Amino acid sequence: MAPGAALTWTLADGVAVVTFDLPGEPVNKISRAVKEDVLATFEVLERDRAVEAVAFFSGKPDSFIAGADIAEFVEITSAAEAERLAADGQALLERVAGFSKPIAVGIHGACLGGGLEFALACRYRVASDHPKTQLGLPEVQLGLLPGAGGCQRLPRLIGARAALDLILAAKLEPAARAFRLGIVDELVHPAILKDVTLAAAKRLARGWRPQRRRRGGLVAWLLDRNPLGRRLVFRAARRQVLAKTGGNYPAPVAALEAVEHGLRHGIREGLKREAQLFGQLAVTDVSRKLVQIFFATTALKKDFGIPSPPPPVAVTRLGVVGAGFMGAGIAGTAVAQADVDVRLKDAGLPQVAKGLAAAREVLDDRFKRRRISKYEYTRLVAQLSGGDSYAGFGRAELVIEAVFEDLAVKQAVVREVEAATSEGAAFASNTSTIPIHRIAEAARRPEQVIGMHFFSPVARMPLLEVIPAARTAPAVISTAVAFGRRMGKTAIVVKDSPGFWINRILTPYMNEAGHLLAAGVAIEEIDQLMVHFGFPVGPITLLDEVGMDVAEKVAGVMHAAFGDRFAPAASFAGMVKAGRLGRKAGKGFYRYAGGKKGGVDTAVYEIIGTQPNGGPRPAEVIQRLVLVMLNEAARAVGEGIVRSPRDGDIGAIFGFGFPPFRGGPLRHADDLGAARLVGELERLAERYGARFAPSDVLQDQARRGTKFYS
Ligand code: 3HC
Repeated sequence: MAPGAALTWTLADGVAVVTFDLPGEPVNKISRAVKEDVLATFEVLERDRAVEAVAFFSGKPDSFIAGADIAEFVEITSAAEAERLAADGQALLERVAGFSKPIAVGIHGACLGGGLEFALACRYRVASDHPKTQLGLPEVQLGLLPGAGGCQRLPRLIGARAALDLILAAKLEPAARAFRLGIVDELVHPAILKDVTLAAAKRLARGWRPQRRRRGGLVAWLLDRNPLGRRLVFRAARRQVLAKTGGNYPAPVAALEAVEHGLRHGIREGLKREAQLFGQLAVTDVSRKLVQIFFATTALKKDFGIPSPPPPVAVTRLGVVGAGFMGAGIAGTAVAQADVDVRLKDAGLPQVAKGLAAAREVLDDRFKRRRISKYEYTRLVAQLSGGDSYAGFGRAELVIEAVFEDLAVKQAVVREVEAATSEGAAFASNTSTIPIHRIAEAARRPEQVIGMHFFSPVARMPLLEVIPAARTAPAVISTAVAFGRRMGKTAIVVKDSPGFWINRILTPYMNEAGHLLAAGVAIEEIDQLMVHFGFPVGPITLLDEVGMDVAEKVAGVMHAAFGDRFAPAASFAGMVKAGRLGRKAGKGFYRYAGGKKGGVDTAVYEIIGTQPNGGPRPAEVIQRLVLVMLNEAARAVGEGIVRSPRDGDIGAIFGFGFPPFRGGPLRHADDLGAARLVGELERLAERYGARFAPSDVLQDQARRGTKFYS
């Protein structure tokens, strides 16, 4: 970037109107070069006597500042270097905070990380009331902490509790909520953002001092401003963070320390500690992995999974067949996120009514959490409709079926949908196991048939597997990916093979949990060990969540497709017969009461046919569960089930919570090394059978010394 290229300014009535517009980039990032530019510009503004105040804006249409340039962190090799980078950022923002002329910022679009830290250093903040305007400090999501003064300025502005809430959870707040919290001073319609910011700058130049009222009354005084109360707040927050992260993520703990240190010892000392901790975090393996995930996810936003993808069809009306839990989730999420009309169809009106009510719950939840206004809520609810016929499907550009997982049923649905829709409409099946080409065999327009595999609950699970069959038209692939993205999902395009990617690698892992139960390991021990490894829940809890009937069906399909390696564990065999379907039935491996999970139901050991007796050592339990998954993942990559290790890792992280700090199963395999994996798998195969036999891919890597990621 040429010096002086990022910031330009003009003078208007004593106010320097500064525009930050990083050339050639979709978003503004604060790089080393940008810092130089800001410093140089502010030098000039300081000296220019015609300038009485500054009004600062972004030149990008949809974003303010996306934060520090994350790409620069990747190149850092030492903690000292990273500490210097943070200290430089702090020095810049100290210069901004101590600038002799008042600065007002007009914020429209994402104002994140270093971008918000910059805004916090300015005198006055105006934000546009627009869905694109979001403010937050997401650094801990990258394994870092807000290192340019954010851990100091935010708690001083809005109180320790509210600041910790934002920083530790990497929360992004819509502008209206940021206004309520006191992060921004004014909330305005986007059309008048510039005028209002300019007017504020002028008023500030004339000596106006905006009054910020302290929020929260006595409670805030006790817990935010009183050192004793604050100590309680920090103790509770530390406990919560450790419970949530299981000690696997150092960043939130460090952020907590940076905030606490600053409030205890003053901003100067706080900044010093903040920079030190930033330096330490930036070179951790955890941060490296999380940054890789950021770039992988970003790259996936632009990737349609095929070379030269044709433009997607703009979907304005979606048809959903099957008003059960999945269908309703798809319908509700499509309305809430993609703002389309949805027509929900099922065989009987009572099912449709139930499905519509469940779909509306997605909107209720958004409204309750103040993510949408009352007006938006009412408008979106009106976009949901349904019936027991295909009436209203004629205008749908896309239909997603989520009916019973049975080939004949799905083939019948595709024929009915084709009869009810226009020639151009795409048909997507939300199957988790049935090959898409088999469903397409019944279609008159097989090139319009594709798989869109959502995960349950649809509103919350971030992954979508898009599965083209051999004959699927490229435009249908683009349309499915684009629509999945509009629904807020990260989409990976995977091969049409039984279980696709997620169930392919999850099934052996679940089965292994069954083998371990048979070997006498206790249910809660298996779960705890995997949570300790970094999964959000253990495999047995996951079975209860998925539903044992669903899991059994998937396991059967996989066994039929891949043979003995996928033979279901005998210990699971009696569960469905005993009605122990999991959470939805109120009983599974665990007890459920009033929607809440209780302890292990020890009666289940009778059904499993074994009692816990210690079983293999914990290290071996972990090894068996993890390695069986890594081995299958390697094999599936070899078969081209995912297009790249990147897709495979992002799929596993977003699909079932493979520990992000390990980077995904394929990165984890690389970290362990193929030679070691092959050796360990061979030993396991000797003891426990051929299901552990190392895959050709790992053997080949071990021989050649190669990896998934070069
Ligand atoms: N650094 C480097 N590159 C960034 C970036 C950043 N902070 N933010 C976005 N980008 C890049 C993306 O990689 C992508 O690059 P590409 O076009 O070459 O693939 C491009 O900008 C556009 O990004 P998106 O595709 O993600 O655009 P969206 O419009 O969908 O989203 C966004 C925009 C909400 C800003 C999103 O990019 C985002 O969340 N960015 C990261 C925000 C963040 O984590 N900031 C904290 C940075 S760390 C920090 O500030 C440390 C400080 O405390 C010292």
